[in-house]
Amino acid sequence: MSAFKHQQGSLHCEGVPLEAIAEAHGTPTYVYSRQTIESAFLAYQNALADRPHLICYAVKANSNLAVLNVLAGLGAGFDVVSIGELERVIAAGGAADKVVFSGVGKTKQEMLSALEHGIRCFNVESESELLTLAGVAATCGKTAPVSMRVNPDVDAGTHPYISTGLRENKFGVDIETARRLYQVAHDHRALEPVAIDCHIGSQILDIAPFLESLDCLLALVDDLAVEGITLRHLDIGGGLGVSYQESAPAIEEYMSVLTAKLGSRDLELVLEPGRSIVALAGTLLTRVLYLKPSDAKNFAVVDAAMNDLLRPSLYDAWQDIQAVTPHEGESRHWDIVGPICETGDFLGKDRRLALSEGDLLAAMGAGAYGFAMASNYNTRPRAAEVMVSGESLHLVGQREALSDLWQRERIPEGPTS
Ligand code: LLP
Repeated sequence: MSAFKHQQGSLHCEGVPLEAIAEAHGTPTYVYSRQTIESAFLAYQNALADRPHLICYAVKANSNLAVLNVLAGLGAGFDVVSIGELERVIAAGGAADKVVFSGVGKTKQEMLSALEHGIRCFNVESESELLTLAGVAATCGKTAPVSMRVNPDVDAGTHPYISTGLRENKFGVDIETARRLYQVAHDHRALEPVAIDCHIGSQILDIAPFLESLDCLLALVDDLAVEGITLRHLDIGGGLGVSYQESAPAIEEYMSVLTAKLGSRDLELVLEPGRSIVALAGTLLTRVLYLKPSDAKNFAVVDAAMNDLLRPSLYDAWQDIQAVTPHEGESRHWDIVGPICETGDFLGKDRRLALSEGDLLAAMGAGAYGFAMASNYNTRPRAAEVMVSGESLHLVGQREALSDLWQRERIPEGPTS
């Protein structure tokens, strides 16, 4: 059941009215429900209770320290794609030995730092990366635990920008290259092949592509075992979609078909879910600045923009937009747009709402890839973030101050031309 509900005519997050949040912290503000984050994580955890597993939350989806801290407290591991994300996890109380490090462009410095922190595994994406990692590990006298990210050439049926498991995508290596690289890793004293991984895309609404990928990975795991390379964990990545509008499979359903396919194999199952843990736990609270009705189009200009929530502009993604305090009045179709000087700056199009200037709106499903993708475009400070837990409200991310925005910039001294 959603933590966002209308009670006494006003939208609440758990026990706190969104109006009170706007009053206390202004708008635009991201609002996260702690309970929703916890229950999504526990849905994975409980479904896998009978087998060895580690849920490595994909930090990129929402990297707020408070979110990471809640998950660390529940025993989560983390999937990171930069040393910045690893440092965040540690700052939030996460354990480095539960971290897997993905991404096609790890630098030597990042590898060194991750080795020093003692992460659980490097999810390696190319032969050059594997050899570079071997060099870094040998220089510092360590053995790097590695997993090869296999690109299973499976169509996840999602938006082309977030589909990652096709041969033409930049991610991972094909199965035959992976087979060869396991031998390279096995023969190198600074590398230890411990796992296999894949990640085929995001917002995936059909379980079949996951199972197809799993088949591909398991075939290689079995072949490698015959060759004397026994892997300890299999990481099927993240990618399970959520119901923004369309209907998504339940976490429990996905986990039960996955574990049925794994059977009695002695392999720890690792997952890297991001969106399915945090998306529905967040909303972006914004206020209507101006209404611009016309014969051609009705625009509601709000104080949140594409710099705050990029998904609608970038992927043409649909997210529900709700009136915080619905009221009487003529409802019309509105394009909900931000103040940024681009026609592509919108949160939603053709939404039927009864609106007045000053109303609060909530862009739902904004807990994943919302604040995490925010920018300062148009010199707009990034929004505040709050977390609600029952009746209590915590500021977990201060709104940026204008002066923060150019603090790192310098005007050269002397003549500039
Ligand atoms: N693991 C790896 C290696 C990934 O690249 C990703 C996401 C995940 C896990 C988590 O996937 P999830 O469970 O969240 O689907 N900005 C886009 C989504 C980009 C996803 C990138 N990789 C959006 O707003 O839809």
